[in-house]
Amino acid sequence: MLPNSAEHPVVPQFWSSSGSNMVVLLTLVIILIVPSALILGVYVIYRWSAARRASQWRRCNIPFSPPTFPLGHDAFSCLTSASPLVAFDRIYRENADEDLVGFFATSCPFILIRDPRLIQRLLAFWAQVHFPSLQIFESFRFTSQKSKHAMGKFLRRKMDHRMAHGNCGDFVDLMKRMQSKTCWNAQSTSTLDLEDEGLNMRQMIGLSFVLLVAGTDAVASVCHLTLHLLSLYPEHQKKVQQEIDQGMAKHGVSELTLSVVQDLQFLEQCLMETLRLYPSLFAIVRTCTEDFHISGTRYKFRKGDKLMIIPYSINRDPKYFKNPDDFEPDRFSPENRGSMPPETFLTFGIGPRKCPGYRIGLHIAATFVASLLCKYTLKPCSHLRQLGAADFDPLWFSLQYAKNSILIDFVPRVVNPMTTEH
Ligand code: HEM
Repeated sequence: MLPNSAEHPVVPQFWSSSGSNMVVLLTLVIILIVPSALILGVYVIYRWSAARRASQWRRCNIPFSPPTFPLGHDAFSCLTSASPLVAFDRIYRENADEDLVGFFATSCPFILIRDPRLIQRLLAFWAQVHFPSLQIFESFRFTSQKSKHAMGKFLRRKMDHRMAHGNCGDFVDLMKRMQSKTCWNAQSTSTLDLEDEGLNMRQMIGLSFVLLVAGTDAVASVCHLTLHLLSLYPEHQKKVQQEIDQGMAKHGVSELTLSVVQDLQFLEQCLMETLRLYPSLFAIVRTCTEDFHISGTRYKFRKGDKLMIIPYSINRDPKYFKNPDDFEPDRFSPENRGSMPPETFLTFGIGPRKCPGYRIGLHIAATFVASLLCKYTLKPCSHLRQLGAADFDPLWFSLQYAKNSILIDFVPRVVNPMTTEH
């Protein structure tokens, strides 16, 4: 028997199926059309902004590679599998006749400066004007509030102590001198309140923090890559070991000391040559803060332009270095070093913003490598050839992480360090 229609109102089938059809249709429209419209919108904006940038570069006499949507320069097609360095290096090599070249990394426009003399002029003379000043502590987004607070308290304790007990001739004294130009309240508690301390205290904490973290990765990188190279070049490794043994014999010590490390000339050459082949910061970027023109050139730069320098590529350009991919520490011998134009070795940057910590960095690396080489001989294990740009991790913007760990065998040496026998 059919149910009573008054008790069970029947929903007309036509409307119900058509309603669900509409929902399906609407869902399809949303799924298909909205993303397509979005992609089209992004594409149009991309082309429009690329065309605008291209005409600006034309007016400024900057040669450029037109971008392809969405990668920019097609060198970036390797981005997921290789370090961005591979793409930058390719753009550098492809434009051997140019002083500089504009390109797009996806949608970001950059001007890659190739010519070392132009780089020198840019970094040495314009760096101050066109580079932002030192960062205050709050701008470090990569560290937690807790570590910022701990660092602040630590520095504050040090400053209190120095105010009471005089100078030690170190970095804290320098900062004290900077701060004494404004105010220092020796009575204040050790509890740090960044808001109450004012800008100077925050800047000082930022500065200390930069000094602590800036060199760590760079030094780690030069240490592990020097060990990698020395394991592949036993003749250079042997020379370093002889130098260490002779240094220890000269100073009459059986353990490495500061005076021995300071005498290790050939080891320093090896570190410098490693830094030439593998500058840990492979790209230096500056943002123009105002329009400018370098006299004697036809190039003009506009406010907001991002200038990029690739020390890795310049350090390996055959125009400036013979057999550029070979590990030849004698390039940095006292006799040869003088003939190397300083602007072609960019591992530490140049000009007023050149790395202020490079001497201490080299010293730490020399101490670390020497302390291993005086006890062990290195043999390559996982990597039997020199690392190239494609061997570095695509996710890092520095050369400290190879895609696969570099394994080296450490074979104990039998040597009497009080003599030079080995
Ligand atoms: C030996 C390994 C090192 C290398 C290869 C290296 C490389 C560099 C490079 C390329 C720059 C950027 C220069 C520029 O933008 O023009 C830089 C900046 C800097 N480095 Fe190093 N560095 C090393 C060790 C150190 C150490 C050990 C410290 C700290 C004790 C340090 C502290 C700094 C600071 C504070 C800056 C920023 C300078 C500024 O912005 O004015 N570096 N470094």
